[in-house]
Amino acid sequence: MKIFYSKSFNARKNSDCLIIPFYEGKNKAELACDEKPYESIINIPIKAKDFLGREDEVLILYVPKGKEKRLILVGVGNIKKLDMEEIRNYLALAVSLCKEKGIDNVNILIPQIKHIDKKDVIRSVAEGFFLANYSFDKNKSKKSKLISSVTFIGVDDKDKEIVEKANKICEGVYLIRDLVNGNADDITPDALANVAKDLSKKYTSVKATVWKKDRIQKEKMDLLLSVNRGSALEPAFIQLKYEGNKKSKDHTVLIGKGITYDSGGLSLKPSTSMDTMRTDMAGAATVLGVMKIVASLGLKVNLTVLVPSTENMIGPDSYKPGDTYQSYSGKTVEVINTDAEGRLILADAISYAVKNLNPTRIIDMATLTGAILVALGDEISGMFTNSEEIAQRLEDASYATGEWVCRMPLFEKYKEMLKSEIADIKNVGGRDAGSITAALFLETFVKDVPWVHLDIAGTSYFKKKKGYHLAFGTGMGARLIVEFLEKL
Ligand code: BES
Ligand code: ZN
Ligand code: ZN
Repeated sequence: MKIFYSKSFNARKNSDCLIIPFYEGKNKAELACDEKPYESIINIPIKAKDFLGREDEVLILYVPKGKEKRLILVGVGNIKKLDMEEIRNYLALAVSLCKEKGIDNVNILIPQIKHIDKKDVIRSVAEGFFLANYSFDKNKSKKSKLISSVTFIGVDDKDKEIVEKANKICEGVYLIRDLVNGNADDITPDALANVAKDLSKKYTSVKATVWKKDRIQKEKMDLLLSVNRGSALEPAFIQLKYEGNKKSKDHTVLIGKGITYDSGGLSLKPSTSMDTMRTDMAGAATVLGVMKIVASLGLKVNLTVLVPSTENMIGPDSYKPGDTYQSYSGKTVEVINTDAEGRLILADAISYAVKNLNPTRIIDMATLTGAILVALGDEISGMFTNSEEIAQRLEDASYATGEWVCRMPLFEKYKEMLKSEIADIKNVGGRDAGSITAALFLETFVKDVPWVHLDIAGTSYFKKKKGYHLAFGTGMGARLIVEFLEKL
């Protein structure tokens, strides 16, 4: 992506298209920027009331003579209600039209919005643009054409870094989306390990360690090994270390669920629930993406990323419902349902972090339960935490990024549902409160470390294109965590 800037409107370069924002005025569309481009052309549809500046309204006009070949008028709706997320969304609308037309380079006018800080406006415009300018058509004969060059008009030298930063962040989001979208046959535990190794090659500040099966056996991560038993592929336990603030003892451990395919195991999923299960490594993809972003921005934080990874498959060696397995922490788990595998591999990773990494806080991200999708839909992640401070900080980050979280209760009484007659704990507590009992299961391995579990089973992929996300991998959660880390 080539990125250019123009301080003034008149100094801009020629391009295929100019994106112009409008809001909904009293009875006609009004420009949402100080510049007055192509007045005579723009006034035609506005006077005819063909374009009112409503949210979700977009119109393409052709220019007989001028620096641009086309204009894209895009509505932002009621200017008073406009927020950062709506700015991202109107950019997505314009970019989506550009993709449809195969437009190669665009000029973007930064809107003037009184009630939002200019830096935040620029940030949202850039994020909306970059997030929407993505495609995954590796497996399609007809490739879609993306915008390859952009000029942001109205951004002066001191604000360029805002755009550069948004670009780096979105590069991380692309990585996550590519991994989530990829075939399960390709995105294996080994492939995730290679992504981690590539990050450590690209960024000297990142160190990768990958444990294969023999080392995982030596370390007695038996829950990860149990889940792996039905798979023809070796498991992996991936560690990435980044020290951005050597003077500080503060240390965040970020753990991602890396189930590269979830068939359910012997508790086999029905086929209608299985065809999306290549995305069950979205937590792993997200934490790898976060590491990429943190390293590329050089954030002054200390971060360790852990990814326990395996397929959950069915075969003669599969682990068995009803049997008891031992976790890395020593606690034994009666496996009632082999489809509740995410919490098992996370339990080993969490115990590993608690025992060996002296974490200030643990964050885990996982496509853990279908129940969270029922509770919160696909735009809000479930947040479970034992720390008021983390809850507050994540809520703040949520507003800044448009990656919504809703705090869910770690309701102690429901722990009873996880009581086992034969082992220390069982891995499922029945159908009721499924997301809560899953989180409570994880909590028993956390001890008293400040911890948050984000259930991203709903938000990590979309069934259909929406806003600045296409169908499938969204990369949601990464911008949230980066914002959180930055504000520590
Ligand atoms: N990977 C699934 C959760 C999931 C469901 C993610 C739908 C994305 C979309 C997880 O491993 C699982 O199967 N959970 C079970 C738990 C149950 C057996 C207690 C579920 O949610 O049904
Ligand atoms: Zn499962
Ligand atoms: Zn799963």
